[in-house]
Amino acid sequence: MQRRQFLAGVGALGLSGLLGAQDKGAELRGPDVIFVPTPSDIVDTMLKMAGVTQKDTVYDLGCGDGRIVITAAQRYRARGVGIDIDPERVAEATENVKKAGVADRVKIIRGDLFEADISAATVVTLYLLTDLNLKLRPKLLRDLKPGTRVVSHAFSMGDWKPERTAEISGTTVYLWRIPPRQG
Ligand SMILES: C[S@@+](CC[C@H](N)C(=O)[O-])C[C@H]1O[C@@H](n2cnc3c(N)ncnc32)[C@H](O)[C@@H]1O
Repeated sequence: MQRRQFLAGVGALGLSGLLGAQDKGAELRGPDVIFVPTPSDIVDTMLKMAGVTQKDTVYDLGCGDGRIVITAAQRYRARGVGIDIDPERVAEATENVKKAGVADRVKIIRGDLFEADISAATVVTLYLLTDLNLKLRPKLLRDLKPGTRVVSHAFSMGDWKPERTAEISGTTVYLWRIPPRQG
């Protein structure tokens, strides 16, 4: 009996060891906000407000089904990077990128938007929540190049005043620009 208990303990330890050795991606926590897609008219407004062109690299932080980066690539020939923590969304967005024929310009990455390297972005799109925008704000100001445009569907950045807002379909779209570095 004692031996059986010992073996059971070793088995459990072995399993947790194996789980610990899994791919980093599998250890990511759950989403901070659920997937709700941005309607296409609001996607258009966000990309127009940011003035996206083929010179841009658009990062959608929490990309859902990939619609914002796919539209940026299809309509403006921009490059796109979509980041999502939910493996189902990543699979769906990756499939949508292939179907849309923009796989040469758009990459979908599984990751936590608070940890991701976003330094290559020239435009960042967000549809999160105000408290998540506020949590993200120091990273945006630290990691993005001055002049990078940030657009948010529906949610503000507290006392960081937007350069522009637009009202569309009963919601507000916000635009900010990363300011020059101080000093
Ligand atoms: C409201 S949806 C917006 C989807 C897409 N950006 C759009 O506007 O259609 C928010 C997305 O953020 C993802 N998400 C939530 N927390 C995240 C995190 N910490 N890192 C990366 N993605 C996250 C969710 O899985 C979801 O797909």
